[in-house]
Amino acid sequence: MTAAAPLGKDLLGLEPLSGEQISLILDTAEPFKEISERAIKKVPTLRGSTVVNLFFENSTRTRISFEFAEKRLSADTVNVSSSGSSVSKGETLVDTARNLEAMRIDMVVIRHGSSGAAKFLAGRIESNVINAGDGMHEHPTQGLLDLLTLRDHFKRIEGLRVCICGDVLHSRVARSNIWGLRKLGAEVAVCGPRSLMPNAIDEMGVTVFSRIEEAIEWADALNILRLQLERMTAGYIPSLREYNRVFGVTRERLERAPRDVLILHPGPMNRGVEIDSDVADGPHSVILPQVTNGVAVRMAVLYLLSGGRPELAESAKAGKGGA
Ligand code: CP
Repeated sequence: MTAAAPLGKDLLGLEPLSGEQISLILDTAEPFKEISERAIKKVPTLRGSTVVNLFFENSTRTRISFEFAEKRLSADTVNVSSSGSSVSKGETLVDTARNLEAMRIDMVVIRHGSSGAAKFLAGRIESNVINAGDGMHEHPTQGLLDLLTLRDHFKRIEGLRVCICGDVLHSRVARSNIWGLRKLGAEVAVCGPRSLMPNAIDEMGVTVFSRIEEAIEWADALNILRLQLERMTAGYIPSLREYNRVFGVTRERLERAPRDVLILHPGPMNRGVEIDSDVADGPHSVILPQVTNGVAVRMAVLYLLSGGRPELAESAKAGKGGA
């Protein structure tokens, strides 16, 4: 597929993108939002393109959201997971992708447990590669949908105070958010136990809070992370109950805030651990709007990487092509 000028061939993370490129994706997502509200949720923009969703780790939101985005743009889609494919017989990632390319595909969306897997693949195949989460590195489309949700609510990103709370150490969502927010001019903080902070946190240009009460007092928005128990190889916290007691975002804590604090969570949630149900389902939660925005953001990324011109996204939405 022809390389798209605005973003290049692949979307591997938000670190390599400029603020202008990130804003371009968010702006391109705007006209695509409306397609999902129609009775017939389909435009012909990517008709004839073939997209393979390679998911080597579990996923609900990202996998289904990419599939909806592809189908709503009329791409042909195939889903491949490690358990049902020859990866389970020892075939390498590159051999799998090259075999798919031999069947003439255009794009690969990849989720993988190893940091750097998307970049590794992108350097070895001609198809566009979109990182749907690689190990503890980046999850760029989650970062983008979080940015779009913040921008929808506050009408700006610049100057916003956003605190990312919890298991920052294991979180690719945290890294993509930190890069994206900082490039768009937000003030960024993190809050959590020191054992769940990366060693290099002091070099990431963020404020570090060790008490959740301080973070809540400071922030316009909290992005609350799941404790990634499956990635923890050591005893990072004494117990889940203790974590909730010290770092849990609860209604009582939010009621003491000097302003309404917007609540984001990338999912999946551990209710009663990092976030209480009162908060997750409360009036300041935008957790489900985040999921809705995920489809529009992924449509925008697919459109731009396939060569779609940003200024034609509105006409693509009207069913007049554009890519
Ligand atoms: N936010 C996110 O990546 O969720 P899934 O793991 O369900 O895709």
